[in-house]
Amino acid sequence: MARKKVFSGILAILSVLLAVSVASAAGEEKEYVLTLDHTNFSETVSKLNFIVVEFYAPWCGHCKKPAPEYEKAASVLSSHDPPVTLAKVDANEDSNRDLASQYEVQGFPTIKILRDGGKTVQDYKGPREADGIVTYLKKQVGPASSEIKSKEDAANIIDEKKVFVVGVFQEFSGEKFENFISLAEKLRSDYDFGHTLDAKLLPSGEPVDKPTLRLLKPFDELFADFQDFQVDAMEKFIGEASTPIITIFDQNPENHPYVNKFFDSPNDKAMLFVNFSSELSAFKSKYNDVAVLYKGKGVSFLLGDLETSGGALQYFGLKEDQAPVIVIQDKDQQKFIKPNVEPDQLATWVKDYKEGKVEPFIRSEPIPEVNNEPVKVVVSDSLENMVFKSGKNVLLEIYAPWCGHCKKLAPILDEVAVSFENDPDVMIAKLDGTANDIPGKKFDVQGYPTVYFISATGNITPYEGDRTKDDIIDFIQKNRDKPLQSDSIKSDSVKEESAKDEL
Ligand SMILES: *[C@@H]1O[C@H](CO)[C@@H](O)[C@H](O)[C@H]1NC(C)=O
Ligand SMILES: *[C@@H]1O[C@H](CO)[C@@H](O)[C@H](O)[C@H]1NC(C)=O
Repeated sequence: MARKKVFSGILAILSVLLAVSVASAAGEEKEYVLTLDHTNFSETVSKLNFIVVEFYAPWCGHCKKPAPEYEKAASVLSSHDPPVTLAKVDANEDSNRDLASQYEVQGFPTIKILRDGGKTVQDYKGPREADGIVTYLKKQVGPASSEIKSKEDAANIIDEKKVFVVGVFQEFSGEKFENFISLAEKLRSDYDFGHTLDAKLLPSGEPVDKPTLRLLKPFDELFADFQDFQVDAMEKFIGEASTPIITIFDQNPENHPYVNKFFDSPNDKAMLFVNFSSELSAFKSKYNDVAVLYKGKGVSFLLGDLETSGGALQYFGLKEDQAPVIVIQDKDQQKFIKPNVEPDQLATWVKDYKEGKVEPFIRSEPIPEVNNEPVKVVVSDSLENMVFKSGKNVLLEIYAPWCGHCKKLAPILDEVAVSFENDPDVMIAKLDGTANDIPGKKFDVQGYPTVYFISATGNITPYEGDRTKDDIIDFIQKNRDKPLQSDSIKSDSVKEESAKDEL
């Protein structure tokens, strides 16, 4: 979940890219999209073999833009056989909230495909413009896997720009075939499936031993074969074989499903951002060599066009003049960065990273030259020295410049700081959480202000009391460590040890 949260910045950028801008359809009379709510949802769904439900919120911009496209698709599909019904639910409406949580709606719009009277639920993973919606849903309502009997079938069924999974069988019966069909049912909203008795009909044309699961893809080695027909094994194979060695992040919408997959992966994520129009050729093959080297070893690779990646750079606290830049984000959300990287340095740097020789990058404001207000300014680069190694009891406010509650707290902290001015063992400090990376293993910042107390020996406690001068002073007095006057050297080593434990 934490992974999801961290990448939601990039996903938001992506969804802006994916949002289709279209003029709204002019004054249609009949509405083809059904409106459902908690009173009639179950009743309607239970009667239908196939229904698509969009959960939206009236205030959501990403919902408004595709709405006319969704309506257009509904009107085209209204006469389709078998029937395809499109519906919408206002998930913002209080009375529909239970329905929304039942369908795990976490963002808007969320579109689900419900089959068999609602017994099977899948995510809609198709396009957002009318023609694309129609094509995708026609496929979804048909059989999960289509039989390929001729070259013409193959040409019609297989979209060479997408991943296509085909089972090549001796006969269409038996356990392996049945497993293949249930796999197709399970993953049909993600991939297109087909089955055939004759591998020669397929675009790759390579002969196979029957039965074989063959995955056709528009990138890398173009196809991959697999012979284990256990459903789980096939699913894992498809997940891996359909991931490009390098995921491309640019304007091309055909690449976006792979970008989503990249960010969903549990791997360490390497991202190289270069200017595609001037630098791509210098980097591509060197980067590819590195990616091939680490395939299956816990690192995924993405190559982003600077033109598209401005938001991603900003998210990592990087500036365009640091490009070409490679970033690795590991499983613990630590960032490793090599700005102004050259093609020949990629392999060595990634190797150094894997061997633990690269220090994590921590975004920081410059350490202020003057710091003589009662409340001291801490930045990431001074956090260690001013807070963890200072031997002081520190009350640290993590704030955002725009946050109203922080502005209210500021004069109170000033007063607290003034009252401790003659106490060398206590410091009141503040850190701008929007301009500095916060060590996530030490502080859990879910909103601003977040206030922590770090005792002289390094005990970290969130301050959750009232934000009044008296309560804060009380808390500091109760939680501060008494200075160990007798043996200050020993107390220093204790401090470092416990700080290390927190890392
Ligand atoms: C469901 O109920 C809502 C609110 O009464 C109504 O607007 C909508 O048309 C109903 N939908 C169907 C399919 O009956
Ligand atoms: C990429 O390079 C081209 C050609 O040199 C240049 O015109 C363009 O401004 C560059 N784009 C970025 C984002 O730096």
